[in-house]
Amino acid sequence: MDTVSSVEDLRARVGAWRRAGKRIGFVPTMGNLHNGHFSLISIARMHADHVVASVFVNPTQFGPREDFASYPRTLEQDQAGLSAHGCDLLFAPPVDAIYPFGPDASVRIEVPGISDVLEGALRPGHFAGVATVVAKLFNLVQPDIAVFGQKDYQQLLVIQRLTRDLRLPIEILPAATLREANGLAMSSRNQYLSSDERERAGIIYSTLCGMRDALHAGQAHAAVEADAHRVLEQAGLVLDYAVLRRKTDLTEPEKNERAGLIALIAAKLGRARLIDNLD
Ligand code: PAJ
Repeated sequence: MDTVSSVEDLRARVGAWRRAGKRIGFVPTMGNLHNGHFSLISIARMHADHVVASVFVNPTQFGPREDFASYPRTLEQDQAGLSAHGCDLLFAPPVDAIYPFGPDASVRIEVPGISDVLEGALRPGHFAGVATVVAKLFNLVQPDIAVFGQKDYQQLLVIQRLTRDLRLPIEILPAATLREANGLAMSSRNQYLSSDERERAGIIYSTLCGMRDALHAGQAHAAVEADAHRVLEQAGLVLDYAVLRRKTDLTEPEKNERAGLIALIAAKLGRARLIDNLD
């Protein structure tokens, strides 16, 4: 696997594949890769002739008090893992290759509606940063397919909508969430957790399972959400939300709605902010 860092080198490599009529798969990441990321590479492999990954810690999707500076950067380790999982090309650009006018003066892509609730409400500007960088990366790589994890469910919906609205000829493939043995969704941010916190964080997944089961058992939405709050707070997590929403657009369901819903949780534990979901 080769690594390129300039737009010119990326275009030369991908352009040669495209002229040869090859299908290109793309997996954008922020690096510090784990098996969740590698499962996306395997899915891309199954649907494309060549797989391109990107590692880019995108400044525009971090809020001023968030962890942009301390976000783990482990390029050599990431290269080895990507190579072992069948990635053909890694694009690891510097910030000025993606933002030639600087991050603050960049063209911005907004995806209204879906970007404004839950994560978007708590992290203003986050999804504009995600949509902007993904649109730029899509434009550079011009893949036929791109793979995104359901772990970041709202992000997946933002990207699906962006792709349809800009009429991009890219198929967005969702990938199931990979978990640790105790149910904790794998995440680069899990390394902010102590080993004790890592164990306790398993309660997020068990609570999601409890929410799903209670919903199917006919419990009222408000009671399902209130129980989840209580359980998580008793376990020492600081909750941002534990809610049931419609899967299609994350709007609030009617009282009698049972089908097509998803449970989503965001909570802080120690230094880490964790998100997860289950449908
Ligand atoms: P990052 O957090 O590195 O995640 C890259 C991709 O891996 C995303 O599609 C994410 O949903 C997926 N992923 C993360 N953990 C996963 C898990 N446990 N199982 C399955 N997939 C998982 O998401 C981003 O980066 C950025 O916002 C990005 C889209 C790259 C734009 O900067």
